[in-house]
Amino acid sequence: MPAIEPTAGTSPLVQPELSLASANTFPAFDPQKVTVVYILGGPGSGKGTQSANLVRDYGLVHLSAGDLLRQEQDTKGSEYGQLIKDHIKNGTIVPMEITVKLLENAMRSNLDSNSTGKFLIDGFPRKMDQAIFFEQSVCPSKCTIFLDCPEDVMRERLLNRGKTSGRSDDNEESIVKRFRTFLETSMPVVDHFAAENKVVRVPAVGTVESVYEGVVEGLAEKGIAPTK
Ligand code: ADP
Ligand code: C5P
Ligand code: MG
Repeated sequence: MPAIEPTAGTSPLVQPELSLASANTFPAFDPQKVTVVYILGGPGSGKGTQSANLVRDYGLVHLSAGDLLRQEQDTKGSEYGQLIKDHIKNGTIVPMEITVKLLENAMRSNLDSNSTGKFLIDGFPRKMDQAIFFEQSVCPSKCTIFLDCPEDVMRERLLNRGKTSGRSDDNEESIVKRFRTFLETSMPVVDHFAAENKVVRVPAVGTVESVYEGVVEGLAEKGIAPTK
């Protein structure tokens, strides 16, 4: 069954402004009870890799927006499959209603099953509209970990990952497009949260372990400590 039920009537994709305007003015989850930490960075900066360490040490539940989209894309009967596939290959951003709904559904089912209520949301928000809509209608975030990595390092990692990932976007042509989207569309989100002093910036070059040390130090400065 698709994670997002096909909508009767107007598709949210047809009138995004309408959907934004009619968004709840209150979040679905109480930020006193639910914690949201975002992890952002360019493609190949190491978000998924560092997320595994954070899950191990901080009691966080990992939700990758890209993984949820790929799962929806491959779900039989999803009305958004082809659209998601096209955006991923082109490195462009999927309409935010889809991604926000997938995240909200995943958070809700996790909370239903007795979770810690602490979420690490990987690769989201990638565009200002996603950020505003999610913070207003789902849950305001506590902070954002930003993995800062030069393109040449990311390119090498992605091409290497592409040897085994089977991903439609781990190739030269898609990588160039993803870098452009990151710079033009996603960096403004990092800058937005940085202006609110909610960003932990971590240099993401070096070994997985040395990058993780930077993550732990940065989180400590924001008062976030490991649970074990
Ligand atoms: P992202 O989720 O940001 O796209 P990944 O965590 O999937 O990035 O990492 C991209 C690739 O680079 C993977 O093959 C991963 O094993 C590798 N990788 C991640 N961090 C490092 C690192 N610090 N040094 C070398 N390779 C890394
Ligand atoms: O994070 P990941 O590299 O797995 O994302 C793969 C693709 O999924 C992105 O290039 C983009 O097309 C789509 N995506 C999106 N919005 C997000 C996260 C991912 O449109 N917040
Ligand atoms: Mg990833």
